[in-house]
Amino acid sequence: MARSALLNVMVQAAMKAGRSLARDFGEVQNLQVSLKGPGDYVSQADRKAEEVIHAELSRARPGYAFLMEERGVVEGEDEQHRWIVDPLDGTTNFLHGLPMFSISIALERQGQIVAGVIYNPAMDELYTAERGGGAFLNDRRLRVAGRNKLADTVIGTGIPHLGRGHHGNYLIELRNVMAETAGIRRIGSAALDLAYVAAGRLDGFWEESLSPWDIAAGILMIREAGGFVSDKSGGQEMLDSGTIVAGNEAVHRALLKTLKKPLPAK
Ligand code: IPD
Ligand code: CA
Ligand code: CA
Repeated sequence: MARSALLNVMVQAAMKAGRSLARDFGEVQNLQVSLKGPGDYVSQADRKAEEVIHAELSRARPGYAFLMEERGVVEGEDEQHRWIVDPLDGTTNFLHGLPMFSISIALERQGQIVAGVIYNPAMDELYTAERGGGAFLNDRRLRVAGRNKLADTVIGTGIPHLGRGHHGNYLIELRNVMAETAGIRRIGSAALDLAYVAAGRLDGFWEESLSPWDIAAGILMIREAGGFVSDKSGGQEMLDSGTIVAGNEAVHRALLKTLKKPLPAK
């Protein structure tokens, strides 16, 4: 598969940061048993990966702006382009030695996401997409799953936790979705969840209270794999609202409906 120059730049940045994260992940597994735990070490790994990505991308495309999880907004002279970056998505997994974490890089051009890369260094899985050019896992073209009945589907989600999200509302949603589907999964990296929907591993996904860097690349990935993505009200304000619902056309529609239902009687 021939990649564009732009996608190559993004892939190189993701792979270089990925090598750094993979080394640190090995060390985190050793630190698990220590009393202090690997907390500070993980924050450093996160910042280091972000530095690598920032350096690589600004060298290849000087002047582009950034929205990065750790640095926040970095203004650029180029008003058309903005990188949206999460250097480590799935921090809690990383901290606990669970190999489901990723790097997510998206490029926005005039407010539209035009390219996305999601890389899981622990599994060496590289997801790429370019607007109009399809989505790929390594060299394999991706297509969302074809299951149409909610009863056959496995759906990914993000579960709110201590200090995060609306626990009461979420429990109502969970009860409704669990009653209508074959299974629910909590992978722990929203970027990977979306890549898995693009790859047809998950039939659908929903979560709220997310940030733009968690989902920008994944939104494009799913669309380029033939899937549907919206916020919870069916609109396109995912980056602003932080809510997201995804799947193939039928699953996306059915999930939107199920998520609006009130608490079931029993
Ligand atoms: C988190 C992951 C997780 C999601 C959280 C995110 P982080 O990102 O994507 O799956 O449920 O809401 O904040 O903190 O690991 O970069
Ligand atoms: Ca994240
Ligand atoms: Ca992060």
